[in-house]
Amino acid sequence: MSRRPFIAGNWKLNLGPAAAAALGAELKVRLAARGDIDVAVFPTALSITAALQATEGAGISVGVQNVYVEATGAFTGENSAAMAREAGCTYALLGHSERRHVFGESDALIGQKVHASLAAGLLPMLCIGETLPEREAGQVEAVIHRQLETGLAGLSEAQVGTVTLAYEPVWAIGTGVTASPEQAQEVHAFIRSWLRERYAPWIADETRVLYGGSVKASNAAELLSQPDIDGALVGGAALSAVSFAGIVAGALA
Ligand code: 13P
Repeated sequence: MSRRPFIAGNWKLNLGPAAAAALGAELKVRLAARGDIDVAVFPTALSITAALQATEGAGISVGVQNVYVEATGAFTGENSAAMAREAGCTYALLGHSERRHVFGESDALIGQKVHASLAAGLLPMLCIGETLPEREAGQVEAVIHRQLETGLAGLSEAQVGTVTLAYEPVWAIGTGVTASPEQAQEVHAFIRSWLRERYAPWIADETRVLYGGSVKASNAAELLSQPDIDGALVGGAALSAVSFAGIVAGALA
């Protein structure tokens, strides 16, 4: 089973509309001849329109970094999945480590956001991953199991089949410390076997599981050559068109 590689850039709280437009325009040029690879970027909500306009016709999907569980109402400061869809988003990034650990989002809330995103026609990209103390305590599989079980709770098989997963060990995010290809592959293989047992072989075979955490052009090819790593979710190195294009090239290597 071959899964089409998927490279996604999480711009986090960087790049206002002008900077997002500039990076989008550069990506459009640099990724024009990238071949058979899916690419998405996740700007801050205020820069979604600018990113869409700058990348128009380039086959680059745009996603929202977070959504609220309700579609409308008295929820000052939030963005809904329906509005992100209307603004032109394809994906919703959910359960990112910073949402979990800086903003205190629970597994259950993230699961509600998965449902809200699907109801609005957005494709969820669900992030999971353990902290360093959890890894040191031998709890990696237990944490991943819990985050998947609750994050995907109540979805039909067909709905689970639309979800992209991103394994991002918290200790590797923004630290320059990348999981070794073997460490990442071990967890990706666990995720795939969990999908097979919990749902169905076709879901395990078709679900793309991206790796995130200090991915750079210099380490992308080795990580992406692992059998169960189908792409990358990139933070810091996604803020430069040169390094992001280098990672996309690594997916072809
Ligand atoms: P870095 O690539 O900066 O480590 O960030 C990873 C990440 O959090 C992507 O969502």
